[in-house]
Amino acid sequence: MSAQTFYLTTAIDYTNGAPHIGHAYEKVLADTLVRYQRLRGRSAYLLTGVDQHGQKVQQSAAKVGQTPRAFAEEKTALFVALYRKLGVSHDGWAATTDPRHVRAVQVALQRLFDAGQIYKGAYEGFYSVRQEQFLTDKERNAEGEFGPEWGEVVQLREENYYFKLREHRDWLIEYISANPGFITPPYRAADVLHAAQKISEDLCISRPKTRLDWGIELPFDRDYVTFVWFDALMNYVTFAGWADGADGVKAEPALPEFERLWPADAQIIGKDILVPAHGIYWPIMLHALGFSDAQIPRLLVHGWWNVKGEKMSKSLGNVIDPDVLSTTYGVGALRYFLMRDIATGADADFSEERLISRFNADLANGLGNLLNRALNMALRYRGSVLSRGGPAAEAEEIRLVRDAALTAVDRYQEAMEAKLPHAALEALWGIVNAANGLVESAAPFKLAKLTDDAAAQQRLDAVLYALAECLRIVSLLIEPVLPTEAAGMRAQLGLSAPAPGEDVLPLCEWGGLPEGHKLNAPVPLFPRIEVPKA
Ligand code: ME8
Ligand code: MG
Repeated sequence: MSAQTFYLTTAIDYTNGAPHIGHAYEKVLADTLVRYQRLRGRSAYLLTGVDQHGQKVQQSAAKVGQTPRAFAEEKTALFVALYRKLGVSHDGWAATTDPRHVRAVQVALQRLFDAGQIYKGAYEGFYSVRQEQFLTDKERNAEGEFGPEWGEVVQLREENYYFKLREHRDWLIEYISANPGFITPPYRAADVLHAAQKISEDLCISRPKTRLDWGIELPFDRDYVTFVWFDALMNYVTFAGWADGADGVKAEPALPEFERLWPADAQIIGKDILVPAHGIYWPIMLHALGFSDAQIPRLLVHGWWNVKGEKMSKSLGNVIDPDVLSTTYGVGALRYFLMRDIATGADADFSEERLISRFNADLANGLGNLLNRALNMALRYRGSVLSRGGPAAEAEEIRLVRDAALTAVDRYQEAMEAKLPHAALEALWGIVNAANGLVESAAPFKLAKLTDDAAAQQRLDAVLYALAECLRIVSLLIEPVLPTEAAGMRAQLGLSAPAPGEDVLPLCEWGGLPEGHKLNAPVPLFPRIEVPKA
């Protein structure tokens, strides 16, 4: 088997809050891309998880009188339940309190310490408790103050451990310049390059346990825990099996074989965590650990969902809950909207009205209506049995639909390879629209009445066959976004699921349905969402 391994990771979500629409989007995006890989017969692995340690979890837990562990586990359960509900098909789950992760992080820290890449130093400055970082004058606003986005700011002097970030600055600049594939979309690379050129300090990677004990102990100084960077970022490699067994203990349960997976073809992150975390610290950490340039993962940076042009925030009270939405409108409606209404990389505005109108236009009136009409007509006029229609299959009207389908499949493939599901869906609707157009122009219900007209009957056969072909192709290619509905379509179309490991693209060639194929009776798959008039 020559199938390549496609390995995808997504940012792990903070467990100091509840999942929101941004989290749902990122995981559905990852899931869609990984399902597309599987659809192409490629072996694929998706890793995602939760970021459970840190000061904010410790504080939030204290506030409600829980241990940090109990608090993090309670929040983790919300993420797990949501992703299960949304059909996210991850293969690995990265929870940073997992002992397998803790041990591998300690292996990394010890190696860097032994190599002289980590040293002890003192620092005094202003510190944002919420963002878990020391603040510099850059972070001051126009009034010269640290704005409310930093939360509580305290002055602090502390001995800590530092990672020699500066030493690798020139390597990173060189790496970014020489590897345009490092960051997608490419326009974001400029921000990273700019930030790399400005690296002027080493990276503080520890906190004294007196202040923060909800973290991973430094193996060379048990009075400290490592915070944020080596804890959270390392998940991408530790859960892929990196350094498994290096401390004499083999992971249990077993982790994947690192060499099979790494490097990740795509690490999916939101734009807010590109600089400095994933664009600066992460590649430098890997480089310092001895990863070659070819082993630096590629970053796919997505934009943000805003609400009425504003950032979602607890203080504005505009946080969108994907659990509520998927209960109200259905998982398919939410997945479709999240994949259709944002261009990967750009921001978008979330609104329930848009979700409803998208669903009604594209799924209820578009695809759902096509499925329903085509199956109904086939049932009524032909007892659900298809026939190609002889010479009528070569008529102009059928060729136009067939060409539209061919073009759509090409464009779909191009868009999915470029990790742009919105464009892939737009392309796929080229088929839906062409097929619905054929129903309008050929008016099968009129043809059906011309029972004595052999040419009209052949034309009717050809039209019904073409509609079923369009639906068959859509049912194959919609799978990454709407896996449940794809199965529903297949059931109605009388098709079996493609064999696992089979590339479905060749199956999208026109004419796959055999002469005499029997369809099933229609069942409404996308019932219109009715909005009560206010
Ligand atoms: O940043 N729209 O966790 P997080 C789209 N644990 N995506 C959004 C979003 C929005 N409105 N809000 C957040 C963290 N995201 C860290 C990451 S990884 C080693 C450490 C995205 O829960 C955000 O960009 O704040 C990030 O990719 C992910 O959700 C988790 O965000
Ligand atoms: Mg964040």
